[in-house]
Amino acid sequence: MEKENLKNSFEKVFNESPSVLFFSPGRINLIGEHTDYNGGHVFPCAVNLGTYGAATKRDDQKIRMFSANFEELGIFETTIDSLEKQEKGEWINYPKGMILQLLNAGYQITSGMDLYFNGDLPNGAGLSSSASIELLTGAMVNSLFNLNIKTIDLVKFGQKTENNYIGVDSGIMDQFAVGMGKDNKAILLDTNTLEFAYADIDLGNNVIVIMNTNKKRKLEDSKYNERRHECENALADLKEVLDIKSLGDLSVEEFDEYSYLIKSSVERKRARHAVFENQRTLQAKLALDQGNLASFGRLMNASHISLEDDYEVTGIELDTLVHTAWHQNGVLGARMTGAGFGGCAIALVNKDKVADFETEVGKVYSNKIGYKPTFYVAEISTGTKEID
Ligand code: GLA
Repeated sequence: MEKENLKNSFEKVFNESPSVLFFSPGRINLIGEHTDYNGGHVFPCAVNLGTYGAATKRDDQKIRMFSANFEELGIFETTIDSLEKQEKGEWINYPKGMILQLLNAGYQITSGMDLYFNGDLPNGAGLSSSASIELLTGAMVNSLFNLNIKTIDLVKFGQKTENNYIGVDSGIMDQFAVGMGKDNKAILLDTNTLEFAYADIDLGNNVIVIMNTNKKRKLEDSKYNERRHECENALADLKEVLDIKSLGDLSVEEFDEYSYLIKSSVERKRARHAVFENQRTLQAKLALDQGNLASFGRLMNASHISLEDDYEVTGIELDTLVHTAWHQNGVLGARMTGAGFGGCAIALVNKDKVADFETEVGKVYSNKIGYKPTFYVAEISTGTKEID
């Protein structure tokens, strides 16, 4: 979105000029799924689709918010001391929750404000539209009130918003990728220590195609929290004998040796995914560093199969996209990305084959599912930033 366009849109809604303009991306995760709340590694990157925001301070205590994506809902109005979660609040709860986290942490937000949002990221599609709004809100408030909050802390406040306010026990991956992303880099993050390293994404003649199932889902209503509890139970069983803090501490060999300790066979499968996926993520980073894209693609495929069979978070829509993608010419690998239960998948596709790929996968998917998927070629971009 053009800067002038963003300013004008704000002015139209609020009859005044914005004092700050920001952009906050969405993210894809290359590999390392459902490992972030298991103390494992993730390998996400920010994408150029995201949310644009404009804001200004007010003289009173009112907070007014408007989203061009939910125009029909009009301007939402509240005050600084009335930020509790709204049933059916939809998008509004993300900025409200984020502002509340900052207030609770003692930051001096001394007046109300007007906030404008406009996103080109599909909502509820597993590309972290919520983390995008959280970080955007945090960055705008940080700037408006000169709060000097470091990006990594905004990232943590974003996760707190999800955990304590929205009610999703998510890990830190999404907010981290959205806040810390860099152009053409993926981030290998150790979620145990928050140590991270940027990795160049050199895909040669290939691009990453994002495939949206267009099946909407809300993580609050999904089995996301259930998966987390299953892993916690498995960990508790292992801890009776092993001195470990998280499933991410285990090598594949250790898991094979001790998995008999996990009493429930379902929980054993969940833990197996978490342990193997963590190791695959480390291998994938090495493969990418060595320019071994074939190996990277194979790891993507193995990741999907593990998420389908052991973790059971894919579903017919994602499986149809990914399985069809595997059969196309010029595809090195494909997998679901994000939480699953609908949302998006990604495929590593030869540049010259993208058009055929989209036609064929689109056709098979529409015939089977009854509606069309959407495709985007991912551009790996920078984290939440001021537009100047
Ligand atoms: C969602 C969560 C993340 C992560 C992924 C699965 O995106 O917000 O913390 O757990 O699912 O990898």
